[in-house]
Amino acid sequence: MKTIIMTGGTSGLGQATAHQVQVMPGIRFILGGRQTRWPLELSSLSSVRQFCEHVLDALGGTKIDALILNAGLSFPLQANTVDGHETTFAVNHLAHYLLLRLLAPALAPQAIVVITTSNTHDPQFSPVAPFSTIDARQLAHLKLETGPTADLAFASGFRAYATSKLCNLLTARAFAAMPQTRAAGVRVIAYNPGFIPGTGLGRNLPTGALPNSTPHLAEAARLHAGQVLADLALGHIVPPAGHLYASLVRGQVTWPAPSELARRDDVAQQLWRDSAQLVGLGIGWAAQEDPLQSNAIISAHKTL
Ligand SMILES: NC(=O)c1ccc[n+]([C@@H]2O[C@H](COP(=O)([O-])OP(=O)(O)OC[C@H]3O[C@@H](n4cnc5c(N)ncnc54)[C@H](OP(=O)(O)O)[C@@H]3O)[C@@H](O)[C@H]2O)c1
Repeated sequence: MKTIIMTGGTSGLGQATAHQVQVMPGIRFILGGRQTRWPLELSSLSSVRQFCEHVLDALGGTKIDALILNAGLSFPLQANTVDGHETTFAVNHLAHYLLLRLLAPALAPQAIVVITTSNTHDPQFSPVAPFSTIDARQLAHLKLETGPTADLAFASGFRAYATSKLCNLLTARAFAAMPQTRAAGVRVIAYNPGFIPGTGLGRNLPTGALPNSTPHLAEAARLHAGQVLADLALGHIVPPAGHLYASLVRGQVTWPAPSELARRDDVAQQLWRDSAQLVGLGIGWAAQEDPLQSNAIISAHKTL
């Protein structure tokens, strides 16, 4: 029996992944979500803690074989979360960071962790570039532009989204480089599914703000991206040595270098530490670790 834990499996590409995975024989599938048997509201750090407690209770000491951190949003309706953090950063990055930290001790040897990022993390590909420096405390307290023009609001919301996806990539790199991750043979993948029109991601945007597609092509793209996410999490697609960033380009899985900023070990380490402080943890691998023991993120994986 393999255990797979997932976020973001109720809509969009993640729903396609969840449909695939949950019907497979020999899989115990736990889907955290706002309308699922396993309640998880990512805009609340206490909800993330409760979800992890329930999961760990249910596992009863058995281990997690795959962790799929796929939930995400853009252009949130609520500027701030109940914890007082900017919602895009809080849901896309901080909640998943906390979830990873709390569930890390329960990962099986050779477990697979997939974090869904986006090529918008890279200024080369994003209509609005992410911030060029990453300061978690500033991002947590960012004020998104709501006016005076729709263009400004779009740029501000998109920048927050692209930056949160950069944080996903940096978190994947930081976690992959930690001694405990490497010792346990845990495989970490940051996955860019490419642009998929018509998912819930653009639900708060005015019609026409994002490029359109035919319903048939959009559905095919969603199903394919979901299938690839399942294949990565199940170990059916294996990263080439030294690579962690899987990017779906015209339907093909490629393994490019992430953006220049995403490759910076110092930036990844700083984000890890600052995020730990924001969620009230030490900087180690697992939640309870002594920070002094975990001067831990090493500058390995230079090529990731
Ligand atoms: N679509 C694209 O073009 C594209 C491109 C690159 C990367 N991505 C990434 O792909 C992932 C999935 O996006 P998608 O396009 O499939 O969007 P989607 O249809 O909106 O799916 C987002 C998922 O995240 C969940 N979610 C959002 N906010 C949540 C919260 N506060 N608490 C718990 N769950 C929450 C949603 O749950 P509910 O059903 O409860 O809303 C849903 O299951 C995201 O990480 C996104 O950044 C998408």
